[in-house]
Amino acid sequence: MGAIHDFIHGLPKCELHLHIEGTLEPELKFALAARNGLELPYRDAAEMKAAYAFHDLTSFLKIYYEGMAVLIGEQDFYDLSFAYLAKARSQNVLYAEIFFDPQAHTGRGVAFATVITGLRRAQLDAERVLGIRSALIMCFLRDWSAEYAMATLLESLPYKEWIIGVGLDSDERDNPPVKFRAVFARARAEGYLLTMHCDVNQTDSLEHIRQCIDDIGVARIDHGVNVLEDPALCAQVLERKLPLTVCPISNSFVTNSSQFAAIGKMLDAGMGVTLNSDDPAYFGGYISENFLLVQRELDLDGARLKQLCANAFEAAWLSRATRDAYLARLADYRG
Ligand code: ADE
Ligand code: ZN
Repeated sequence: MGAIHDFIHGLPKCELHLHIEGTLEPELKFALAARNGLELPYRDAAEMKAAYAFHDLTSFLKIYYEGMAVLIGEQDFYDLSFAYLAKARSQNVLYAEIFFDPQAHTGRGVAFATVITGLRRAQLDAERVLGIRSALIMCFLRDWSAEYAMATLLESLPYKEWIIGVGLDSDERDNPPVKFRAVFARARAEGYLLTMHCDVNQTDSLEHIRQCIDDIGVARIDHGVNVLEDPALCAQVLERKLPLTVCPISNSFVTNSSQFAAIGKMLDAGMGVTLNSDDPAYFGGYISENFLLVQRELDLDGARLKQLCANAFEAAWLSRATRDAYLARLADYRG
């Protein structure tokens, strides 16, 4: 292992774009299937991984939703979440904002309370035992109806103290941000912070980014790499200091082009670009692997790597005091 590898490993990190259901590793899938008396159509983890053949967002999402059928009881959600937090801590993630997809569970008969109490208990244990802090962001599935999203928002209200914000994910095609205008307005009124996915190279990517900024008023954008194609949007992102949570390994799977050059351009332009892992159990890389790949492609030095981490702590939904403490720890880091 080289010096840069060690430097990246030790960097104090912040993860802002991570779907907890996308951290379900094949081995845990088998364990949960056994616990719940379910038969999986694969002999072992290697055979399951070999079947992960996706080339775009739609083909990835099909496998992602099929995989989570093994998550049924509160302990399943606990185990999923604790395993991720342990992995993140081992890569020196100090703080993570974690997406979850409640409708992907309530839609198949698992209660909202089961999902969130399992996630929450794992967060508390991980903070106490491992020293990693985290927050939850509830995502709505954009290829389902706005009415179901609103019902989910209302269902979440008794757990409001456990959820920091809301997001929008799943299949973007023909599902623009404005479809959820009323849902996000209500979420804002309830005190939730707002983010939305603008996946890379979607039909109408630029219009969706514009809607996120002008019509929804998001606090940050998940992916959003296509912003570079439009100088006016770039100017808005810079002026409003809108962070972008980019996921390079994920991008190389679900688009047919790598986004490394774009990450370099965003850094050069002074945008709040951050590096994240999205669905690491499916794409084969957690946050350190994303940093390693980008460092290699762009030949980033220590200062630029620290800038990417600082961007994430700046973008995080933390109090000023907590953010400053993390930033000070990062500034002191020498590798
Ligand atoms: N759900 C899980 N991962 C996603 C992604 N990369 N884009 C949209 N929805 C998702
Ligand atoms: Zn995502």
